[in-house]
Amino acid sequence: MSETVLEVKNLESFYGPIMAIRGASLKVEKGQVVTVLGANGAGKSTLLKTISGIMDPEKGQVIFEGEEIQGKEPHSIVRRGIVHVPEGREVFPLLTVDENLSLGAYTRNDKAEIEKDREMVFDYFPILKERRGQEAGTLSGGQQQMLAIGRGLMLRPKIMLLDEPSLGLSPLLVQEIFAILKRLNEDEGVTMMLVEQNAKVALELADMGYVMEIGRIVMDGSADRLMESEDIKAFYLGHQEEGARGERRWKRKKTWR
Ligand SMILES: Nc1ncnc2c1ncn2[C@@H]1O[C@H](COP(=O)(O)OP(=O)(O)OP(=O)(O)O)[C@@H](O)[C@H]1O
Ligand SMILES: [Mg+2]
Repeated sequence: MSETVLEVKNLESFYGPIMAIRGASLKVEKGQVVTVLGANGAGKSTLLKTISGIMDPEKGQVIFEGEEIQGKEPHSIVRRGIVHVPEGREVFPLLTVDENLSLGAYTRNDKAEIEKDREMVFDYFPILKERRGQEAGTLSGGQQQMLAIGRGLMLRPKIMLLDEPSLGLSPLLVQEIFAILKRLNEDEGVTMMLVEQNAKVALELADMGYVMEIGRIVMDGSADRLMESEDIKAFYLGHQEEGARGERRWKRKKTWR
């Protein structure tokens, strides 16, 4: 039976006068990977920031495990098990890999379990073990992305919010990181909400997908259905059937469920 972990209802978020989220609704079931696709400026990062409490919404609800959490402080949201791996892989550059991982577990005090989780992170990302004493700022972009994900895992999240983990990485490295995300979902049962512009890799990993445009959800469905959609192919997957990439706009909301 499916169990809704996270639900966003009619959310509206602003930067001063700018309305970045214009009434978005979505659901994440336990154990799923749900992706939110959208072009630059669609509001993907703002959506994650509003869920994790970095921003307060003007309207609407964020419901986590049945409880409304919108407007709560980020630290209280983290403690509930929502981990946000932000865009641009913000690791602490002057701290070592190990210190970054330890900080990821700052809400916990079960020392032996924390060390087990560190070993688990090293199993998934062996390069981090090799570089454990190195300052994070001196890691490559891909390694920093791995560290950002690893640090998030150290909290034993109930859900991970991942903001464009593919950003700025080579196609090969993107494949590698997404293969690891898949294993984390399948083997460790980590529920994920994945924001991406890279629709292909995101839909390959995800169970469900939503498409955002200018602060609204304009399309949703199973990842398989979205992958077959002509609109998605035209806009995101390189089959340019009408106009140049980026010109095409979503005209109508489609729901397949
Ligand atoms: N700090 C800010 N101040 C004012 N406006 C902002 C700020 N951050 C984002 N915006 C605006 O909010 C809208 C949504 O931005 P957001 O960063 O959520 O988009 P995004 O989908 O994550 O884009 P990208 O794929 O480029 O990361 C955009 O119009 C953007 O210009
Ligand atoms: Mg963004």
